[in-house]
Amino acid sequence: MHFRCHGCGATVDAGDALPFRCPNAGVAGNDIDHVLVAEPPDAVFPRGAEQNPFLRYRTLLSPYRLARAAGLTEAVWTEIVETLDAALVAVDGRGFRITPMAEQKSLAAALGFSGPLWIKDETGNVSGSHKARHLMGVMLYLRVLERAKLPAGDGLRARRLAIASCGNAALAAAVIARAADWPLDVFIPTDAGAAVKQALQDLGAGIAVCERRPDETGDPCVLRFREAVARGAIPFGVQGTENGLAVEGARTLGFEMAEEFSAAGVAPAVLYVQVGGGALASALAQGFEIAARLGGVEKAPKLIAVQTVGCAPLARAWNKLDRLDLTAAARHRSRFMWPWETPPQSLATGILDDETYDWWAVAAGMRASGGRPVVVEEDIVARAHNLARLHTGIPASATGTAGLAGAMSEMSAPDLYGPIAVIFSGVER
Ligand SMILES: Cc1ncc(COP(=O)(O)O)c(C=O)c1O
Repeated sequence: MHFRCHGCGATVDAGDALPFRCPNAGVAGNDIDHVLVAEPPDAVFPRGAEQNPFLRYRTLLSPYRLARAAGLTEAVWTEIVETLDAALVAVDGRGFRITPMAEQKSLAAALGFSGPLWIKDETGNVSGSHKARHLMGVMLYLRVLERAKLPAGDGLRARRLAIASCGNAALAAAVIARAADWPLDVFIPTDAGAAVKQALQDLGAGIAVCERRPDETGDPCVLRFREAVARGAIPFGVQGTENGLAVEGARTLGFEMAEEFSAAGVAPAVLYVQVGGGALASALAQGFEIAARLGGVEKAPKLIAVQTVGCAPLARAWNKLDRLDLTAAARHRSRFMWPWETPPQSLATGILDDETYDWWAVAAGMRASGGRPVVVEEDIVARAHNLARLHTGIPASATGTAGLAGAMSEMSAPDLYGPIAVIFSGVER
C-alpha cells in the first residue's frame, strides 16, 4: 500500500514508514506543495448493508487495503473497527453510523431555490461533527500497524498523539484518542473557549496553551504542534499537509452521499462546502471522484468552496491560478497560498484558518468538476444559520451552515437549476 506526494512525487510504503508528512516537506528552498495521497482504490463501488462506514466502504480505504496486504483477515478488520466503535460508544455515547441525508423542502421554499436542496447532517456524528471521520482513518491505520506488527509501527505506543486546534477537530481527536486509550496533547491558543478546554480535560487530553511570540509569524499552536511532531509525536490533526491519511477518512462522507443520491435517483448538480483548512472539501472531492469512477454515482457534482469575506485565502489562490497548469502550481506553493493578511473574522469561527492548507487538492477538485470558490458576506452567514435552524431543526453551528450561505449568495446563478447538496456539521455547543 503506497502513498504518493501530489507535489514532488515521492512515494512511501505505508507498511514500512508512516505516510503522514511527505519526507521532502520542510526542505529549505523547496516551495513544493507536499501532501501524501493513498494510491487510488480499484475495487468496485461497495454495495454492502453495513451501517458503519468504515466497514461498508472498507475496500476503498488504505488502512483496510494495508491490513489485507499484510495478511490480516476480514474478520480481524471487522474486529478492529468494532472494538474501537464500542469504545467510542462508551466515551461519546455513539459510534460511526451512516449519517442522515434528506431533501429539505421547507428550507428550499423559504430560500426560493428552484432546485431541490439536500442536506447531509453530520451534527449527530461522533463528537458532533464530521471531523471524527478524518481521525478515525488515522487511528485505524495505527491499529493495523500494531496488529500486523509492521515495521512502520515499531515503537509507536511510546509516542503521544498531537493536534493544533481548539474546536471540533480537537474534540474529535480527544474522543478518538480516549476510545483508543492513546495519550493526546492539544495545542490551543490563549483565547480558547473555557467549555472546550473543560471538555478536552474531561476526555483526558493534555493541553498546551500557546502564546504568540514576538519573534515569529504564523499560528503559534501550529508551530508548537510541529515542534512536538519533530520530537516524535504522531500528527493527529486534520490537515493533509501534516498527515495525508487524515483526509482519506472523511472520503467516507462523499461515499455515503454518492450512494444515497444514487439510491434516490438524484444527480446532484452542485455541492457547496464550507472551507477552513480545506481537508473536508478535499476529502469530498476525492470521495465523489472515486465514487463516480467506480460506478457509485453518475458523476461528481460541481464543487463550490465557500469562505467568508473575513478570511478567503482559497479564493485568492484560485484567482491567481487562472488557467495555469495545476502540476506547475504545486511546485510554487507560496505564489498561491500564504497566511491571510488581516486577523480573520467571521461568525463562522471554525473556518478562519489563516491558510487553506489543503488548497491544492480543493482547487484540483473544483477544476475537475467545473466548480469554483464563492466568498460570502457576514449577513448571509448569519441568515443561513438562522434559517437552517428554523426550517430543518438541525442544531448546526454557524460554521456548520456556512455552505448553505454559499448557495444563498448565488441564488441567481444557473448552477442552481439542479439538485443542490450541502453539509451541515459541527453541532451548536
Ligand atoms: C463544522 C465544520 N465544518 C467545516 C469545517 C471546515 O473544514 P476544513 O478545515 O477541513 O476546511 C470545519 C473546520 O473546523 C468545521 O468545524
